[in-house]
Amino acid sequence: MNENVKLLDHPLLQHKLTLLRDKNTGSKDFRELVKEIAMLMGYEVTRNLPLKETTIETPICKTTSNMISGKTLAIVPILRAGLGMVDGMLSLLPTAKVGHIGLYRNEETLQPVEYYCKLPKDIDKRTVIITEPMLATGGSIVAAVSLLKSYGVKHIKIMCLVTSRPGIEEVYAHHPDVQIFTLAIDEKLNDIGYITPGLGDAGDRIFGTK
Ligand code: URA
Repeated sequence: MNENVKLLDHPLLQHKLTLLRDKNTGSKDFRELVKEIAMLMGYEVTRNLPLKETTIETPICKTTSNMISGKTLAIVPILRAGLGMVDGMLSLLPTAKVGHIGLYRNEETLQPVEYYCKLPKDIDKRTVIITEPMLATGGSIVAAVSLLKSYGVKHIKIMCLVTSRPGIEEVYAHHPDVQIFTLAIDEKLNDIGYITPGLGDAGDRIFGTK
């Protein structure tokens, strides 16, 4: 597997993923779990953020200490399921900007179609973290990354709950430079493009629309 894929195997994450996969987990619990998982994943995704030494005064004396430097991040959910991961990330990174990319999947061609894009003005200066619970065929991620690169974005990380092996290969065929963080790499897709075993339709399960 490509060295840019980070499979997060922390027991807490794997336990929560099993609850997500279970078809008996209802929307309220599913939504809360996605939020918790996003926060825990955020810890790994932000591991290499640059730090800047700052001078502060403790109650005891003056000292230097590290802080995350400058305008560093933007979180960009792919609508709609990616929205479910934003609050968890914002609880870790309350000052991050949030952009939105709207893509839907044409059910016949399985190709992504863009219908919305609103990004922070200085997006080209930020590391972008795309949130998309399911990396299935890879089409939406490839389209979102291409769109972000057309705005000058240079550093892109992708946070997915579940990925498929063919989907990951498709992303790296187009964008070998991105990093993918995931809890699972499932082997295949079914004939309507759903990850198998997967967890079903993430958007429907988050928003209770089934
Ligand atoms: N989108 C989903 O929500 N689930 C899948 O398995 C594939 C695409």
